[in-house]
Amino acid sequence: MNRVLTTMDDSFFYDIHIFCCVNQRVAGHPRGDCASRGSIDLHAYLKERVKSLAGLGRVRVNQAGCLDRCELGPVLVIYPQGTWYHYRSRDDIDEIVSRHLQEGQLVTRLVLRHDASRPPVQAGQA
Ligand code: FES
Repeated sequence: MNRVLTTMDDSFFYDIHIFCCVNQRVAGHPRGDCASRGSIDLHAYLKERVKSLAGLGRVRVNQAGCLDRCELGPVLVIYPQGTWYHYRSRDDIDEIVSRHLQEGQLVTRLVLRHDASRPPVQAGQA
């Protein structure tokens, strides 16, 4: 597949750009949604955590509509790497911030593979 450059140069406007799905559906929808699993509060928490840090470069944390991985939610995706994460708690967000954003390492226990059909198993779950 050929890549098409859409900017005047090869740099990105943001060094790190994070999209958190905060989509909410009517109760009982078969696919569920990220908002009903806590993504609105966790997005706000992530945004505050990132604001409090220095040295990350130009970072933007945006709310997103449905990213079409609803059954795996809450989900977020971090660019430019295109890394997808499932998260459920402030502890998960803290780990994504410290490991991924600050140390440049994957939080493997939370990574959503492209072919995932279920959220990753988290600590304390069978
Ligand atoms: S509702 Fe979050 S990915 Fe669809």
